[in-house]
Amino acid sequence: MLGNFSYSNPTKIYFGEDALNYLNEELAKYGKNVLLAYGGGSIKKTDLYDRIVKILKDNGKEVFEDAGVMPNPTVEKLYEGCKIAKENDVDLILAVGGGSVCDYAKAVSVSTYCEEDPWDKYFLRMEDVDNKIIPVGCVLTMVGTGSEMNGGSVITNHDTKLKIGHVFGDNVFPKFTIMNPVFTYTIPHYQMVAGFFDIMSHILEQYFTNEDDNTSDYVMEGLLKSLIHSSRIAVKKPTDYEARSNIMWTATWALNTFVGKGKSQDWMVHMIGQSIGAYTDATHGMTLSAISIPYYRFIMPFGLKKFKRYAINVWNVNPEGKTDEQIAKEGLDQMEAYMREIGFVMSIKDLGVTEDMLDGIAKGSFILKGGYKVLNHDEIVHVLKNSMI
Ligand code: NZQ
Ligand code: ZN
Repeated sequence: MLGNFSYSNPTKIYFGEDALNYLNEELAKYGKNVLLAYGGGSIKKTDLYDRIVKILKDNGKEVFEDAGVMPNPTVEKLYEGCKIAKENDVDLILAVGGGSVCDYAKAVSVSTYCEEDPWDKYFLRMEDVDNKIIPVGCVLTMVGTGSEMNGGSVITNHDTKLKIGHVFGDNVFPKFTIMNPVFTYTIPHYQMVAGFFDIMSHILEQYFTNEDDNTSDYVMEGLLKSLIHSSRIAVKKPTDYEARSNIMWTATWALNTFVGKGKSQDWMVHMIGQSIGAYTDATHGMTLSAISIPYYRFIMPFGLKKFKRYAINVWNVNPEGKTDEQIAKEGLDQMEAYMREIGFVMSIKDLGVTEDMLDGIAKGSFILKGGYKVLNHDEIVHVLKNSMI
């Protein structure tokens, strides 16, 4: 394994059909005032909202509502949340929803007592937190981002057309997360499928780096195989508990920092995908699926050995009598066929991207250096053009 690293993950997970019962245990650890953050109302279409409010009240909590956290939460919403949190001196932020609500809760957590503009400090200047942090707990209802067990927080600024993620340290990770796969059954099909590709992309961003023999790569191949297997079941039968629970747990491990240890990381698909998101407000996972095949076909020659390994170990390509290029290409062909089978978006046109946006999207894509090829502006435009097909 390369480099030196430290590893700790402070988030306590309660997983399974009885997980919500453990909210009582966790609430006892925090003060009276709870900010209940949630999205556009999906939790009110089931009994989840009522169940959670009852648990909060039974534990003597004063509940302050922060509803309407939108997918791809905005900086304006962040300011609004900070105001409610500060005025009511909240002791805990309870996020009930998907990655957007969890990310938002973390952003409010570090921003409420920030003396400067939190967008400038945390998202433009990427500074560390040096003010009071409000603890966050999550009840996860949508699977994909891994936000339930990491320090990531992605905020969108529509005025400047920037969507930026800050990966905070473990003092900002959720203190606990409740994960009941049954809560995810009501996710609309498009969102569910988008989450599946988000998971795949998180793994691939960490897999396609370096050439050494690394335990993390073996773990990631296992996670990918589980995801491919279970996603095929879940698209046909969304209420298959075995498939949905496996996918939920895979998503958490794909981005709870574990599999990235001892490796450099790529993240260019996410950088380009986030820029597409800033222009279109498209669903995160689909911004990734729409560019992944063109991106990986472009960088394949620079990481051929790993692409060959990916083809054999993940896609069961038979290497006999084939060149390395042929094997690697066959792996990507199989990945593309799988993606079409599941129903991921395969063209950025379907997300509302038009030719005149390509230059701006490329300019808004932060160029990172951890992958097999450091892209320049023109190469990003090239990948985007190949994603318009
Ligand atoms: O708002 P409501 O009404 O709750 O509806 C949501 C939303 O419209 C709905 N939904 C969620 N759970 C549901 C449900 N509908 C019915 N039943 C349920 N059980 O799904 C829609 C999408 O939710 P959202 O939270 O936006 O999805 P996701 O979990 O994919 O989160 C996306 C955000 O996370 C960021 C993305 O950039 C994006 O802003 N990411 C965060 C990361 C992290 N923290 O590490 C990493 C990721 O790469 C990603 O960038
Ligand atoms: Zn993602």
